[in-house]
Amino acid sequence: MARTLALLVVAIVASCALVQTTTAGTTHVVGDSLGWVVPLGGPIVYATWSVSNTFLVGDILLFNFTTGQEDVARVTKEAFLTCNSTNPITLKATGPANFTLDSLGQYYFIGTLDKHCILGQRLAINVTAYSGPTPSPTPTPTPAPRGPRNYTVGDKLGWLIPPAGPLDLFYASWAYNKTFLVGDTLVFNFLNGSDDVAVVTKQVFNSCNITSTLAVFNSTPANIALNATGEHYYTSTYDKHCILGQKFAINVTGHATSGSVPSPPPTAHPPSITISPSPATAHPPSIAVSPSSPAGGAQPPSQNTSAAPMTGGGRLYFGAFVVSVTASALYF
Ligand SMILES: *[C@@H]1O[C@H](CO)[C@@H](O)[C@H](O)[C@H]1NC(C)=O
Ligand SMILES: *[C@@H]1O[C@H](CO)[C@@H](O)[C@H](O)[C@H]1NC(C)=O
Ligand SMILES: *[C@@H]1O[C@H](CO)[C@@H](O)[C@H](O)[C@H]1NC(C)=O
Ligand SMILES: *[C@@H]1O[C@H](CO)[C@@H](O)[C@H](O)[C@H]1NC(C)=O
Ligand SMILES: *[C@@H]1O[C@H](CO)[C@@H](O)[C@H](O)[C@H]1NC(C)=O
Ligand SMILES: *[C@@H]1O[C@H](CO)[C@@H](O)[C@H](O)[C@H]1NC(C)=O
Ligand SMILES: *[C@@H]1O[C@H](CO)[C@@H](O)[C@H](O)[C@H]1NC(C)=O
Ligand SMILES: *[C@@H]1O[C@H](CO)[C@@H](O)[C@H](O)[C@H]1NC(C)=O
Ligand SMILES: *[C@@H]1O[C@H](CO)[C@@H](O)[C@H](O)[C@H]1NC(C)=O
Ligand SMILES: *[C@@H]1O[C@H](CO)[C@@H](O)[C@H](O)[C@H]1NC(C)=O
Repeated sequence: MARTLALLVVAIVASCALVQTTTAGTTHVVGDSLGWVVPLGGPIVYATWSVSNTFLVGDILLFNFTTGQEDVARVTKEAFLTCNSTNPITLKATGPANFTLDSLGQYYFIGTLDKHCILGQRLAINVTAYSGPTPSPTPTPTPAPRGPRNYTVGDKLGWLIPPAGPLDLFYASWAYNKTFLVGDTLVFNFLNGSDDVAVVTKQVFNSCNITSTLAVFNSTPANIALNATGEHYYTSTYDKHCILGQKFAINVTGHATSGSVPSPPPTAHPPSITISPSPATAHPPSIAVSPSSPAGGAQPPSQNTSAAPMTGGGRLYFGAFVVSVTASALYF
């Protein structure tokens, strides 16, 4: 996030003596280019947007939506978990709508129209700190030197559709904590013939429309050596597996030292919002018609070694940001 953006942002009058040093904040456009919609990828989309941002007191959330088609309500945690829009704390029906984060703690937002919340138009964030008066660009922490590691994807669970579904953020959580370096190996344990590992582009990853892959590994265990820095996206070509949450993205940020010093993986400090799987009402409807996977899992994909891991800027997302909103009607 460009903290420098803060310099462009108009001063926010802090309402409380505690935040007297907080005069300007970052504006976070919720969902970035996706805006505030019913996301095709379900609740995971804003959940992962949330954990990939850091929110400070004084920052602004900008909910970008079309008046009449969407709205945004700040609600209690309970109302967030149950998608209850009966008694919101605040409701803004005119888009785009700004919301200033004026204190530490958790904030919960939902869309109140139709089934929007249940389908994933909801956001929980954790405001974790006060911003200083002169926010400095946050340097990317350089990982501590260590030797190469083997990471078993999903640990004991292995590589499959996460049992609790996409809301569980299972693989996103698994990956979130970890530092990945060139020289490390991802070990995917799965059932031969029931799954595979597809290395895909960010676009394919976001849309779960698996029409092309960079590489497919269909023999278990698949040991994938991380051989380039940058973002890497993994899912399965099997029917609906991607949209049901069998996907994750990583950022390979450096190189493991050649002399393999056994050491535990340095743990980053995630903004520790926990989106717990919600009560039954909040589960996405069973996906009868999937807009994804025309490629399906029917044909066993061939091992394609022409892969070139992609590098690039931008942040990592785990949800579907690419496919248009109208496609989400397919969920009904
Ligand atoms: C809000 O969405 C509109 C339409 O998608 C877009 O043109 C505009 O740039 C967005 N605004 C921001 C602040 O992202
Ligand atoms: C929704 O919240 C209101 C009060 O905020 C409460 O009276 C009502 O019982 C809740 N509805 C459900 C279905 O939980
Ligand atoms: C929302 O905040 C942005 C950035 O701070 C500002 O440019 C915009 O005018 C604000 N919009 C409203 C409706 O307040
Ligand atoms: C990773 O696993 C492979 C094969 O199981 C093994 O040969 C290698 O020593 C392991 N590397 C590390 C760093 O544990
Ligand atoms: C991060 O890793 C620690 C152990 O290293 C684990 O206890 C914790 O649950 C992990 N958090 C997430 C969000 O995965
Ligand atoms: C999976 O199939 C490959 C051949 O396609 C075989 O080498 C491997 O041993 C199998 N693994 C298991 C666990 O059955
Ligand atoms: C919010 O962040 C604070 C500070 O990092 C942490 O102590 C708290 O547990 C977090 N709350 C949630 C719900 O994640
Ligand atoms: C999937 O991608 C292909 C090619 O990129 C495109 O032709 C097709 O329309 C897409 N399908 C959906 C449902 O978006
Ligand atoms: C990097 O690994 C991929 C498989 O993950 C492989 O297809 C590719 O050839 C490797 N590139 C290099 C330069 O070794
Ligand atoms: C990946 O890491 C590099 C260097 O650490 C950083 O410049 C880049 O912004 C990161 N990408 C993402 C998507 O976080």
